[in-house]
Amino acid sequence: MAIQINPVAGKIGAALSGVKLDENLSDDDFKTIQQALLKFKVLFFRDQHLDDSQHEAFSRRFGDQVPHPTVRSAEKSTAILHLDAKETRANSWHTDVTFVANYPKISILRGVVIPPYGGDTVWANTAAAYADLPTPLKVLADSLRAVHSNIYDYAVPRDTQEDGAKRYRTEFAAEVYETEHPLVRVHPETGERSLILGHFVKHIQGVSSHDSKQLVRLFHERITHLDNTVRWRWQEGDVVIWDNRATQHIAINDYGNAQRIVRRTTIDGDIPVGVDGRFSQALKPTPETRSPKTEADKKHLAA
Ligand SMILES: [Fe+2]
Repeated sequence: MAIQINPVAGKIGAALSGVKLDENLSDDDFKTIQQALLKFKVLFFRDQHLDDSQHEAFSRRFGDQVPHPTVRSAEKSTAILHLDAKETRANSWHTDVTFVANYPKISILRGVVIPPYGGDTVWANTAAAYADLPTPLKVLADSLRAVHSNIYDYAVPRDTQEDGAKRYRTEFAAEVYETEHPLVRVHPETGERSLILGHFVKHIQGVSSHDSKQLVRLFHERITHLDNTVRWRWQEGDVVIWDNRATQHIAINDYGNAQRIVRRTTIDGDIPVGVDGRFSQALKPTPETRSPKTEADKKHLAA
């Protein structure tokens, strides 16, 4: 049966059916999925019910898996991030792991325990947000660079259990990372320009903190405008894949104390390059002092 691709929203997101993401997935079907991902940015698959090893095997087809830089992987896995709402709720807009230079190119999330209501995730298209800017704002965005850090300004979400949340935060920020990214990156596969912002941004370089806040707000509102988003109602067994180079996302925190568990893998990304040809630059820890933790890290340090 051929894969069916149905857009879910006008600017981002498609639901794919007629395909199982297990070991029987053909190379042709995988290629169709890769092409759809570049076009729609987020792909939704119902009724997959992958286990950890199937999840990892599917992820490896996209490239090298990278574990989270600071949070340890789930038991018996090398690269699966276990996300339990009792400990953490990603309820502010972000792109995954932008506090490192070569942040993941793709994230693959599966729904393990889904609350009876609420807990939807919303994604925004950061390439469309750039494309829709008037020319003077494009020119401004092209010239800006921003510092991202894992020590970011956050509010402890309601409904998390305090001990678990504190433990997660401590682990998350165990080592300080800072990276300077261009505000606009050129996508290495599509050539599209997209905005790099989200909750790991600390400030825009070369302007006052007041101006920095105003600039971040100006571009952030373009990204998260509802016309530019897609919202997904999770079911257990779902798999969602997103192009982390061209999207932001937020998990809506509206399910009280209900259980919500999702598991994520991420695929090694390249170092972003701006419109002017300048690459992102890791500021902390410095490349020289950083201890290589993964094969992907070693590869980047060697490069
Ligand atoms: Fe995330």
